[in-house]
Amino acid sequence: MRRKLAAGNWKMNGNAASLSELKTLKDLLPPNPPQVVICPPAPLLFRATEAARGTDIMIGAQDCHMQHSGAFTGDVSADLIADTGATFVIVGHSERRDTHEERDSDVRKKATSAWASGLTAIICIGETLDDHAANNTLDIIAGQLAGSLPDGMTTSNTVIAYEPIWAIGTGKVPTLEQIIEVHDFIRAKLVTRCGAEVADMIPLLYGGSVKPDNAATIFQAENVDGALVGGASLKATDFAPIIAAL
Ligand code: G3H
Repeated sequence: MRRKLAAGNWKMNGNAASLSELKTLKDLLPPNPPQVVICPPAPLLFRATEAARGTDIMIGAQDCHMQHSGAFTGDVSADLIADTGATFVIVGHSERRDTHEERDSDVRKKATSAWASGLTAIICIGETLDDHAANNTLDIIAGQLAGSLPDGMTTSNTVIAYEPIWAIGTGKVPTLEQIIEVHDFIRAKLVTRCGAEVADMIPLLYGGSVKPDNAATIFQAENVDGALVGGASLKATDFAPIIAAL
């Protein structure tokens, strides 16, 4: 059975006081919850891992540098992230690809660096509204998968998140049929890339305006194993029902 996973990406939101949401979330989790990861801003990682101690909640970072150390002012390495006790890191989020001009080759190097530090990489892909409107989604996804995924994926070191850029923070969500089509396509590409045994066990997340009222519909897709949630992960009372729908 493939593991289910709900990841909350706080982006550049929240502060130390927001970490009290972790305790609220712990109290709201259903029995036998899926894996739950919270990715707060980097300065909160140490405190977040402390706050999550003794709970089923895991902590992740939102990005890492591709090098392990060096003169990279302001950047954070995967080694440093692991040192905080975090166990996941998001790489290739569309906001990083956009505002920091990250290319597929950068994302691949970051994922490799994450693995070397013992982190699970949540590798993000997704098409723009223009590509979606021009029916180019599958071509874009194929290209991003080919360019962003390093060789050496295992069932534990990689999670893939499909996030149509036009759905992020907009309240727009693809139809269930569109979600099924893209996730089935990703799974098939993974089979070609790393064989059916590994491909079948790598969790695929959907991301983009997942909310308590649409999560159950999205999770009907056979190849959707969870969600990467932005806005609705900030409050435990919003995130908990999404987790419970998995
Ligand atoms: O990383 C999370 C995604 O970008 C989705 O964000 O749930 O606010 O649309 P959102």
